[in-house]
Amino acid sequence: MPTIDAILQKRELDRDDIIALLGASASADVELIRSSAEKVLIDECGDAVYYRGLVEFSNYCAYDCHYCGIRKSNADIKRYTLSKDDIVAAAKWSIRQGYGSVVLQSGERRDPEFVDFLEDVIAEIKSATVSEKLPNGAGITLSVGEQEPQSYERFYKAGAHRYLLRIEASDPNLFALIHPQNQSWQNRIDCLKTLRQIGFQVGTGVMIGIPGQTVSNLADDVLFFRGMDVDMIGMGPYIVHRSTPMNIHADYYDQHKDKIFQTALLMIAVCRLVLKNVNIASTTALQAMRDDGRELGLRYGANVIMPQTTPVDVRRDYLLYDGKPYMSDDARLYHSDLEKKIKSIGRKITVDDWGDSKKAVLRSQASYQCLTLKSKPLKSLKSKSLKSNSFLVTGAPPP
Ligand code: 5AD
Repeated sequence: MPTIDAILQKRELDRDDIIALLGASASADVELIRSSAEKVLIDECGDAVYYRGLVEFSNYCAYDCHYCGIRKSNADIKRYTLSKDDIVAAAKWSIRQGYGSVVLQSGERRDPEFVDFLEDVIAEIKSATVSEKLPNGAGITLSVGEQEPQSYERFYKAGAHRYLLRIEASDPNLFALIHPQNQSWQNRIDCLKTLRQIGFQVGTGVMIGIPGQTVSNLADDVLFFRGMDVDMIGMGPYIVHRSTPMNIHADYYDQHKDKIFQTALLMIAVCRLVLKNVNIASTTALQAMRDDGRELGLRYGANVIMPQTTPVDVRRDYLLYDGKPYMSDDARLYHSDLEKKIKSIGRKITVDDWGDSKKAVLRSQASYQCLTLKSKPLKSLKSKSLKSNSFLVTGAPPP
């Protein structure tokens, strides 16, 4: 078997290479992988860290995913939906901080009332955030699950331009184990394709450490991301929530916590090595496992951070998993603390910028060239070279 060093010298990583990298455990190997990923990040995307103000605007959900704390059947939480004014205020706060972009996330609902409301909120955020610095208003990413194609189109026309829809597990069998029967793997794939056709920059991701998941599953997840040609990745460790059917795996989680955390970091690094110029978020779930989790995510190749801007009084009701940090302190203090941490790892915070991935920027330049090709004589176009871009032990399967 080739050494980690030899694998990292290769131009293209195949499935076996990815499995070997994700399974690395010797600290020297892990550090080699981390530093290679950091180098690819800096070479391909630069040292910028992009912020998005995260607004978790509603915890109502019509679905019952087995892992999720805001699932429909969890009667232990208080349900809320923020008013349009509150959501717009949170977005404006983010823009005043220089974040440039917001992420609107909620439980999954497809009813007309929800779709009308969200469309209206997007349009309002857009018009309320236009400035000299941001002539096209805030960048808006949505994370509101599977929707009808017409709804996606309405959200896009209203001004959202990025969409995160995690596949959660790219293996259809694993997907089926953690979702109720009315959630279909195929529909999620169709949604991802529809989003791209409409023009969204598309992101997906998985949970890492799902009981029964193997390193080979995770390697296939990485290959899945590559196959879907996504612009963004948002993924993090799976963490048990006590009021979900998967709480029976609490012991499994406790036993494998460290391994899950380390594998989540390695997934970031490997995604950076394989996908090169996409945006990768360092997610809250990493921070839930370790105070410095998100900074570590950045050091393993992530370049996006989503600071919480959900109003403090409802944060604790958006508990997707146990121990989610809801940071009841003043968001401004939190913000400056984060800034110090990012600077301390030698990275630069980008302000007043949507922070699209290099991949998405290159794609839009390429399609612009295609359009102008029709009107320009071929020789006038310079051909611009586009830089192309047994884990976790097997546990008892989820219910
Ligand atoms: N552990 C980790 N991540 C979770 N999510 C939901 N529940 C959990 C959990 N128990 C993640 C899902 C979803 C995102 C919004 O939150 O991946 O897509």
